[in-house]
Amino acid sequence: MISSLSYCFSRIIITLYFFFLIFLVLHTLASPTLHYCRHDQRDALLEFKYEFLVNESISVLSLSSWNKTSDCCSWEGVKCDAKSGEVLSLFLDSIPLNNSLKPNSGLFKLQHLRNLTLRDCNLSGELPSSLGNLSHLTKLHLSKNYFVGEIPASFGNLNQLRDLSLADNQFSGNIPFSSFANFTKLSHLVISNNRFTGEFPLVLLNLTTSLSELVISDNLFKSTLPPDMSHFHSLENIDVGGNSFFGSFPTSLFMNPLLRTASLRKNQFEGQVEFRNTSSFSKLHILFLQQNKFEGPIPKSISKFSNLKNLDLHDNNFTGSVPNLANLEYLDLSYNKLEGEVSDSLGSVSELTLSHNFFSSFGKSFEVFDLTNIQTLDLSSNSFRGSLPHWICKLRPSLLLELSNNNFSGSIPQCLSNVMADLSTLNLQNNNFSGILPSIFVNATNLVALDISDNQLEGKLPESLINCISLEFLNVKSNRIKDTFPSWLGSLPSLSVMILRANKFYGPLYHSHVSVGFQSLKIIDISHNHFNGTLPPFYFSNWREMINITKRVSEYMEDGYSYINSMEMVNKGVDMLFELIRTDFGGIDFSGNNFSGKIPESIGLLKGLRLLNLSSNGFTNSIPQSLANLTNLEALDLSRNQLSGQIPQNLGSLSFLSIMNFSNNNLQGPIPRSTQFQRQNCSAFMNNPRLYGLEDICGKTHVPNPTPQESKDFSEPEEQVINWIAAAIAYVPGVFCGLVIGYIFTPHILKWFM
Ligand SMILES: *[C@@H]1O[C@H](CO)[C@@H](O)[C@H](O)[C@H]1NC(C)=O
Ligand SMILES: *[C@@H]1O[C@H](CO)[C@@H](O)[C@H](O)[C@H]1NC(C)=O
Ligand SMILES: *[C@@H]1O[C@H](CO)[C@@H](O)[C@H](O)[C@H]1NC(C)=O
Ligand SMILES: *[C@@H]1O[C@H](CO)[C@@H](O)[C@H](O)[C@H]1NC(C)=O
Ligand SMILES: *[C@@H]1O[C@H](CO)[C@@H](O)[C@H](O)[C@H]1NC(C)=O
Ligand SMILES: *[C@@H]1O[C@H](CO)[C@@H](O)[C@H](O)[C@H]1NC(C)=O
Ligand SMILES: *[C@@H]1O[C@H](CO)[C@@H](O)[C@H](O)[C@H]1NC(C)=O
Ligand SMILES: *[C@@H]1O[C@H](CO)[C@@H](O)[C@H](O)[C@H]1NC(C)=O
Ligand SMILES: *[C@@H]1O[C@H](CO)[C@@H](O)[C@H](O)[C@H]1NC(C)=O
Ligand SMILES: *[C@@H]1O[C@H](CO)[C@@H](O)[C@H](O)[C@H]1NC(C)=O
Ligand SMILES: *[C@@H]1O[C@H](CO)[C@@H](O)[C@H](O)[C@H]1NC(C)=O
Ligand SMILES: *[C@@H]1O[C@H](CO)[C@@H](O)[C@H](O)[C@H]1NC(C)=O
Repeated sequence: MISSLSYCFSRIIITLYFFFLIFLVLHTLASPTLHYCRHDQRDALLEFKYEFLVNESISVLSLSSWNKTSDCCSWEGVKCDAKSGEVLSLFLDSIPLNNSLKPNSGLFKLQHLRNLTLRDCNLSGELPSSLGNLSHLTKLHLSKNYFVGEIPASFGNLNQLRDLSLADNQFSGNIPFSSFANFTKLSHLVISNNRFTGEFPLVLLNLTTSLSELVISDNLFKSTLPPDMSHFHSLENIDVGGNSFFGSFPTSLFMNPLLRTASLRKNQFEGQVEFRNTSSFSKLHILFLQQNKFEGPIPKSISKFSNLKNLDLHDNNFTGSVPNLANLEYLDLSYNKLEGEVSDSLGSVSELTLSHNFFSSFGKSFEVFDLTNIQTLDLSSNSFRGSLPHWICKLRPSLLLELSNNNFSGSIPQCLSNVMADLSTLNLQNNNFSGILPSIFVNATNLVALDISDNQLEGKLPESLINCISLEFLNVKSNRIKDTFPSWLGSLPSLSVMILRANKFYGPLYHSHVSVGFQSLKIIDISHNHFNGTLPPFYFSNWREMINITKRVSEYMEDGYSYINSMEMVNKGVDMLFELIRTDFGGIDFSGNNFSGKIPESIGLLKGLRLLNLSSNGFTNSIPQSLANLTNLEALDLSRNQLSGQIPQNLGSLSFLSIMNFSNNNLQGPIPRSTQFQRQNCSAFMNNPRLYGLEDICGKTHVPNPTPQESKDFSEPEEQVINWIAAAIAYVPGVFCGLVIGYIFTPHILKWFM
């Protein structure tokens, strides 16, 4: 009895336990859908997802977790209120949705949303006014999509907004005044890089207590700034750059105690810069005033910004000397009218750009400072004179040492080798340096660009150059260097541009015992030296880079555009040189030497060649037929040689060849019949007594052998060809752009840029 009772009891226990287990399992299985995800919210989300299906069978890959088998509160990017099951947040950054937001989108049924971020989702079209339904939004990020049109008035319903970003779209129109007046809690407003128009949104003045970030840069705003901006008590970051704001410097803005970064970059502000109430300035970190029309002195009160790290004043009309600026890390004062001594306090700046001013000397303390912070030093285009100061050798710059366009004189000190270990660009162009170029390149393995052109250096090129295994650009133009051809540089794997023009180099280019390297060479200018001798037929056959370039200009036209657009951003000439290197431009200038013998047949292998100048030498024999293989050729100058035979008829098929000169040779026979040839100036064929077919080009009355005076009158096209590399290397910012583009993209291509 007892045993049966206890048996029965244990059965009951087991049974209860069993049901309990089942309950637990069921509870676990059922709880997500029953207790968390609200069905209306789930359906709205699914509706939203299906608006972006291009094709039922390819679902939005990253939204594959959005399916009915799981709790919608666990879906990717979705966050719910744990109790009510309402969707509070949707974070869908960088998911390619590829479509517009529909006015009746499921999205607008998620009325409890607080946070909505759809950054970089490839959304397009106009913002539907139903967005105003989401009146609980505190954060709305729609940046980096292709959106157009105006902000809908219904935006005013979003009166809980704290954080709004519409940056990097194509929104246009004015900021809707009445809507924004409702945003009384707005703290972050980022609408940069759109097409908003109108005046500075004065409505923001009512948000003085809440606003901490105001970024309205790169739009089409045009007005003065409000006269009193001193009441943004929470403002930390303001950027109004890249608009057309004008008027005087907003002194009152800088009275806001929390301000950390301020940019007025690239507007039309003018007049003097002044700061008041300097005691409260202490938080300012970044100040960008570049590309305006400010003038007068840099105010001494700027020294009181003790936290200032990054100061850019370039491209204004500041005058006078530089006040004390300790603690800065980045300083750009270029393109102003500053003068006098470079203040001692700048010795700690790591990127220091002083180019295009009238600075003439350095503070005494530079001699005693620890200058190892300096990574970039740009002193170019100033009035520095005398020998290089000794402290230069104490630098450890890793990027740039720019001393070009000054009046430095004397010899280049051997101790400069200390500076070279990490350096990537050394520019000494256009000074008065004399003596030999010392052997400073032993450790220069990171050097990418070396320019010592337009000085009075003599002697040989130092052998230590062979250590510059990263070298891409070498320019020694217009010195007095007396050396044989540096064929040993042919082993440098990256050397793309080599300019030896206008020195006293002599002797042959080719020695049978030296293998010809220069595998990366794209531009070589050895013109106006005393090179002589012959070139074997295979001479160019190792110039792999020029052989392999086959891209036409049209294929990188888009790059070309961005190159020009970015011009104002990049104001360092050297960067532009690298742009030149990157454009697949091939050019050879051997003119003004004493080469003799036949032009090497292998020239026809250099498919990337766009400019070839062999003029003013002693080349003989006939013009190689292989030239007709250079389908990218735009300019060809073979004038002033002793070439004989016919002009290869198939040169007429080179459709890009627009500038040519065959004058002053012994050529004979007919001129190729092609539009390109017929378009030439008569002077391009002068002084070849036995050429014929010139009637169309020169007219009936042409003089086959003009007097020197007449031929001078015709010399323009020739000059145009000869000068191109000179233009390329005169890397004065801006001028460089105009000239090089002008020359590289010779006339017919140039018109694409207009
Ligand atoms: C949808 O995509 C599948 C798979 O790529 C394809 O086979 C089908 O033809 C597509 N349907 C439509 C309507 O484009
Ligand atoms: C959006 O476009 C990109 C690129 O064309 C494609 O890879 C992606 O699958 C598309 N997304 C959808 C949801 O169709
Ligand atoms: C549904 O989502 C879950 C994750 O939430 C995932 O494991 C499952 O593979 C998805 N099902 C489908 C059919 O995509
Ligand atoms: C953006 O979406 C369009 C279709 O609206 C598509 O053609 C394009 O490839 C997408 N771009 C990217 C980068 O996903
Ligand atoms: C919304 O975003 C803010 C800021 O990123 C965050 O602090 C907050 O927790 C988010 N709210 C929800 C419900 O996810
Ligand atoms: C401002 O918000 C209120 C609700 O708080 C709303 O009634 C009003 O229409 C909004 N104003 C505008 C201009 O949208
Ligand atoms: C600021 O708010 C006040 C009171 O709401 C209003 O009268 C005034 O027009 C607003 N000013 C601006 C510039 O929006
Ligand atoms: C500087 O002043 C000169 C005339 O004094 C003016 O031509 C030039 O445009 C000004 N430059 C800037 C950047 O304001
Ligand atoms: C080159 O580097 C080596 C090793 O770092 C060093 O010992 C030598 O002094 C350096 N030479 C020059 C000229 O800087
Ligand atoms: C090249 O010029 C040198 C003088 O610089 C001369 O000695 C040599 O004979 C010349 N060689 C040829 C092939 O003309
Ligand atoms: C040039 O082309 C040749 C053969 O097509 C190839 O072996 C070589 O690596 C290429 N050189 C460069 C620099 O691309
Ligand atoms: C010119 O190119 C053609 C075809 O690419 C080739 O057959 C010929 O050998 C080349 N001629 C010369 C002289 O390089």
